[in-house]
Amino acid sequence: MSPNSTSYTSAALSLPNRPRRLRRTAAIRRMVSETQLHVEDLIYPLFVMEGENRKVEVPSMPDCFRYTLDLLLHEVKEAAALGIPAIALFPVIPEDFKDSTGTESYNPDGLVQRTIRAIKEVVPDIVVITDVALDPYSSDGHDGIVEDGVILNDETVDVLVKMALSQADAGTDFVAPSDMMDGRIGAIRDALDEAGYTDVGILAYSAKYASAYYGPFRDALDSAPKFGDKKTYQMDPANAREAILEVDLDIDEGADIVMVKPALAYLDVIYRIRETTDLPVAAYNVSGEYAALKAAARNGWLDEPTVVLETLTSMKRAGADLILTYFAKYAAQLLAR
Ligand code: PBG
Repeated sequence: MSPNSTSYTSAALSLPNRPRRLRRTAAIRRMVSETQLHVEDLIYPLFVMEGENRKVEVPSMPDCFRYTLDLLLHEVKEAAALGIPAIALFPVIPEDFKDSTGTESYNPDGLVQRTIRAIKEVVPDIVVITDVALDPYSSDGHDGIVEDGVILNDETVDVLVKMALSQADAGTDFVAPSDMMDGRIGAIRDALDEAGYTDVGILAYSAKYASAYYGPFRDALDSAPKFGDKKTYQMDPANAREAILEVDLDIDEGADIVMVKPALAYLDVIYRIRETTDLPVAAYNVSGEYAALKAAARNGWLDEPTVVLETLTSMKRAGADLILTYFAKYAAQLLAR
């Protein structure tokens, strides 16, 4: 070939392995894709508040609302119609219903209990997961009972057991303790079994970190701690081996599903947990992760549909079977295209 030839074939390297062959067309890429995100993997967290016919956007979580029960039911129906299998419920409790021991949490006619019953009546097939922790009900804004600035473990577990039982009475499918007290999974399992609720499951927030990514959620529920932080019960972000210990304990105590929270900054933890258990592993794509992507997308700095699917897929690739995400409906719509 002449030295002036415009053909590039002469430059061909002698390469037997060309990974790009498997990326050449969309069909080939689809064929060799290792990870699929399905609508079935998604759990939709929802905020319910008292009142009627109102929805209020959470300022730090654009497109995410607190709903009164009537409008929440509408939202649950839409989620079910999109094929989302489960919702996770969080209540906004009026300030005058809060006290130092969270007694409102086991009121048989409390907001969560009424909401569970209503959902089970209107959308019976959707899986209902209810949060077990004191913070929405606590005048101190902590996940446990506070005495002299200390979060009491065993006294808190007593209340968590009452809360879980009252949610089971109302018809919840899974209780989800998010409090990080020691021994609560076992205590709740024993109490549920003793009361005959052997079929009510436990989704354990097993490795829950003391994370700055929960800020927008605390705005949504007005549940920020009134003093100090949550570092004496939630885990140190620096620790991964400790996550395995927490998961092992929760499994011994009777957890059905174990969870890592937050998700995006803890993909290595999800991966490690996936290696240590054959139980389903859930990841919580938390409020701050949602807020960060939303803010960037709103500014035109990130392409929202692409970055949302990439982010959720990365959690599955790390080993999560289930993902709690405020993007659930949005992702379900994208996946249906
Ligand atoms: C508290 C609870 C928190 C979240 C779920 N349950 C916040 C906290 O621990 O302070 C956070 C969820 C989110 O940020 O999306 N029991």
